[in-house]
Amino acid sequence: MGGVNLDFRTPDMLNRPTGRPDRRTFAIISHPDAGKTTLTEKLLLFGGAIHLAGEVKARGQNRRAKSDWMKIEQQRGISVTSSVMTFEHQGVTFNLLDTPGHEDFSEDTYRTLTAVDSAVMVIDAARGIETQTRKLFEVCRLRNVPIITFVNKVDREGREPFELMDEIADKLALDVAPMSWPVGMGGTFEGIFDLIGNKLHRPAATDSGHFEGDSLPFSGLDDPKLGEAVSPEGLAKLHEEAGLALGAYPQFDSDAYLNGDLTPVYFGSALKEFGVAELIAALTALAPSPLPQPSATGTVDPDDKAVSGFIFKVQANMNPQHRDRVAFMRLCSGRFRRGMKLLQPSTGKSIAVHSPILFFAQNRELADEAFPGDIIGIPNHGTLRVGDTLTEDEAIRFTGLPNFAPEILRRVMLVDPTKTKQLRKALDDMAEEGVTQVFHPQIGSQWIVGVVGQLQLEVLISRLEVEYKVDARFEASPWDTARWIASDSEADLKAFIGTHRNAVATDRDGAPVFMAKDMWELNFHENRNPTIRFTATKERV
Ligand code: G4P
Repeated sequence: MGGVNLDFRTPDMLNRPTGRPDRRTFAIISHPDAGKTTLTEKLLLFGGAIHLAGEVKARGQNRRAKSDWMKIEQQRGISVTSSVMTFEHQGVTFNLLDTPGHEDFSEDTYRTLTAVDSAVMVIDAARGIETQTRKLFEVCRLRNVPIITFVNKVDREGREPFELMDEIADKLALDVAPMSWPVGMGGTFEGIFDLIGNKLHRPAATDSGHFEGDSLPFSGLDDPKLGEAVSPEGLAKLHEEAGLALGAYPQFDSDAYLNGDLTPVYFGSALKEFGVAELIAALTALAPSPLPQPSATGTVDPDDKAVSGFIFKVQANMNPQHRDRVAFMRLCSGRFRRGMKLLQPSTGKSIAVHSPILFFAQNRELADEAFPGDIIGIPNHGTLRVGDTLTEDEAIRFTGLPNFAPEILRRVMLVDPTKTKQLRKALDDMAEEGVTQVFHPQIGSQWIVGVVGQLQLEVLISRLEVEYKVDARFEASPWDTARWIASDSEADLKAFIGTHRNAVATDRDGAPVFMAKDMWELNFHENRNPTIRFTATKERV
């Protein structure tokens, strides 16, 4: 029985840079409680984190590391630490983007995943694929994001590794390639066999929460010396299972992984720091470097000279004293320098980025340059919106950051009518963050909010109350679905809007939206008006 063939890399697809710093920009997708926080913390610690994020539960010593940044947060009155976390390993900088923990599919999550080049999927060994993992996976699939799987908590009783592998393959319709294999689980756990490096990682006798065990090299699963490292039962099981697994599942194939068709599977325990080093090694060796990004005029290559990037997230200030917000830009090409002027094509204006927040910097305040794959936080007063391009090359307009047609439409009712101004401001802010969409009907004065999931409504109500002190209620609206409408014929569009004034609203950019009671009604109007385009997504280009 040999190990896995390592001769699989196709450097061109991995897009490794020459002459500029290398990055891995990724997200972790998982169901709540699978261990995302614990794994994040271990990755940060292991990789010599440049800073620790506020959201990650800081324990003991780690607490100190985040304090400097917290001060900056307080001075600026912003809260950004949890959004991007950065660590370094062997000359590669890793940018880990936090995916919001909403239960519903949210636009926010989708957009965050547009800014990554790959993802790590964390699965609880006792629970397998859960609903949220699956939803986030589907979002990744929409964009063929390559995924490395980490089966967590093997230190506890879990399900049989084969069962888990098959479940990933079946439920996600994804090929699975075993990269490591556990020797027992829970009470019978004796370590993890690295099928690539032919090493056995064994736990230490005492449990410090860090990996302090040993890693023993072998010539392969057949190496007779393995019998001295694990119990006869453990060895028999490893031989049988891992041998079978290597034959039963496909070998790792870089192209299939990069296309999002195959996931390499690692077993480990975030809590005991087992398999974390292998995961970082996998991200370093297998995951793609910053990839070319789609734009209206073809892809933009990271090696292109002109600096360009897109805004994938806007975070409004959590501190009611200040109304600053931070726009998060993924840098796609060029070498960004502090203070440089970039064109914002959606407004036709240029903005000077004087005080970017550079997450990868040892000392954020002194950092003054960034490279493709990096995330730059740009404090602003609402000029920058999700989907905006910022560029030195005026021809570039990034695509792929759509607004989604809402699936739930509600009328907003103010309990105290004197708070109209605050309500407008709050809805505007939250629309900007992608928490909701706001529509202004042609007839009537009530705003309509549109969301893609029920949870977003709850978030909205609670934020209105807590952050804006606005007591509002949502009422059912007569509409169930909405579509942006456009036409090559101005006259046709005008006529359509004229005859359906009670079902037409404008979004916050002033674009017309048609609201329908149900899909039947929508189809009816689509068929009746072939010159009108009804679209479920809208891009800001
Ligand atoms: P999440 O961010 O995905 O929601 O999960 P989180 O890391 O918070 O982990 C959820 C629970 O699972 C935590 O226990 C955590 O300690 C535990 N956990 C994470 N990784 C492992 C692992 O590899 N092995 C084992 N045995 N447990 C793991 P908790 O009791 O809910 O929280 P805490 O008091 O430990 O913080």
